[in-house]
Amino acid sequence: MYVKGWPILALIISVILGCDTPIETSGADREESSGELVFQEQHRPQIHFSPKVQWTNDPNGMVYFEGEYHLFFQHYPDSNVWGPMHWGHAVSPDLVHWEELPIALYPDSLGYIFSGSAVVDWQNSSGLGSEGQPPLVAIYTYHDDKARNTGSLTYQTQGIAYSIDKGRTWAKYEGNPVIQNPGIEDFRDPKVIWDAAREQWVMVLAVQDHTSFYGSKDLKTWTFLSDFGSKSGNHGGVWECPDLFLVAVEETGEQKWVLLLSINPGGPNGGSATQYFVGDFDGTYFTLDEAFQEDVSEEQAVWLDYGKDNYAGVTWSDIPEEDGRRIFIGWMSNWQYAREVPTTIWRNAMTIPRSLSLVKEEEGYRLRAMPVEEVNLLAGTPVSLDHRALETSILPGDPPEVGRFELSFDAKSQGIIGLELSNEQGETLVIGWNAEENTYLIDRQNSGNTQFNEAFVDDQQTALRTAERELPVKMTILLDMASVELFADDGKTVMTSIHFPTSPFSSFRILSKTEEQFLEGTWTPMNSIWN
Ligand code: FRU
Repeated sequence: MYVKGWPILALIISVILGCDTPIETSGADREESSGELVFQEQHRPQIHFSPKVQWTNDPNGMVYFEGEYHLFFQHYPDSNVWGPMHWGHAVSPDLVHWEELPIALYPDSLGYIFSGSAVVDWQNSSGLGSEGQPPLVAIYTYHDDKARNTGSLTYQTQGIAYSIDKGRTWAKYEGNPVIQNPGIEDFRDPKVIWDAAREQWVMVLAVQDHTSFYGSKDLKTWTFLSDFGSKSGNHGGVWECPDLFLVAVEETGEQKWVLLLSINPGGPNGGSATQYFVGDFDGTYFTLDEAFQEDVSEEQAVWLDYGKDNYAGVTWSDIPEEDGRRIFIGWMSNWQYAREVPTTIWRNAMTIPRSLSLVKEEEGYRLRAMPVEEVNLLAGTPVSLDHRALETSILPGDPPEVGRFELSFDAKSQGIIGLELSNEQGETLVIGWNAEENTYLIDRQNSGNTQFNEAFVDDQQTALRTAERELPVKMTILLDMASVELFADDGKTVMTSIHFPTSPFSSFRILSKTEEQFLEGTWTPMNSIWN
């Protein structure tokens, strides 16, 4: 553990007091903690974004502008538990190496700064930039906690802020809020997109058990368009953090609209999760595709990720046309236990950025997600795995504990196939496919520190395999110090799961009943993004 100054003190205090004790720090402490030795603490993600210090939840305002991917994030700079929300800020030239910048948005008299989005206002429709200098405009929810405590229902409104210096400094719009609350308690998380066909800005907002759409010509004046969702999909909890985008179906090129929707609780394996809908948007109404209607009737949902730890994720705005990807990032935790996970200096991280695409299968339209190819920038020398890997072996690499497995198994495999990770303490993590039940699984029951909250292990993490039974079972598994992400069958099934072993998982074993079932495998160690 390499930490200096206050982090050591904070660590000792938090060990004595228990991990969910907030650690208060001043601005000066932040400065000091940004010394070169952070990012090596126990459990610190090495290939995923996490803030230098203190609390984070949802990713916010992701936008690409002039060679930089911006990532804002729900942040409480004074504690490692949730509190008055700010927008933290980081930028990356390549989606994997992140530089944390000063906080972008602070709470003000209208409230905390809750989740939202950002766009490049290319034509300066808002008038907040100038000719030849398009502003970045952030659209977010104001959460007035004081009003909430007095019993008001109208404490969430929408506001905007803008930057004309590549996101380095932000000014709040003086006419805030731009959307007043109509008397609804949960009214938040605006995602704004440019609807090119109608030449309008469209906002999709999470409103209790549905989404509401608003339209605007200038990002400042908004008109209500329509509602969607109170009778579709899962309603086990409140709807949060929507996203709406147009995507071309792989192979056919047909254009479809996808609506992402996070829900807490109600997830397939307990707690927080993200469902999605496929349909059409005509500039006013979102309607479900016929092929999708049944999948989301009677409280059924189609989930983006079946693991317990991918929540509130949305996609980047303004990815250049010549790139053309739909790039997603999520918060790698779950509200069931996010406030208690056993880290101290910072708390929580983001998923690996993923490229989403839409395919049409027998069962209808389905999203596929795979890590962005930029992850290969971190790759060390790949090691081929043969049948010897059926015995416990040390992970090769420096550091050895972070990297990617690519495994392929016979379609007719029996038993549980996949991967077991382990450490010297005998703690294990199993990622695999159960042939008899046709389900993928991540089992973290024996993965080390699981005691901080019983919901961490009370739901077995499983997902039905939807790929054709005749095809080999393919798994891409991204391993970091405190997380594993399974992309099965080229991303048709995805599971994200965090873990906190006493010491890092440095050994592995391929799970397979016979040598023949295991067709091929590769381990590619990855270099830390903080080097
Ligand atoms: C989702 C969420 C959002 C809200 C934010 C507050 O995790 O509850 O709905 O804007 O977190 O931090």
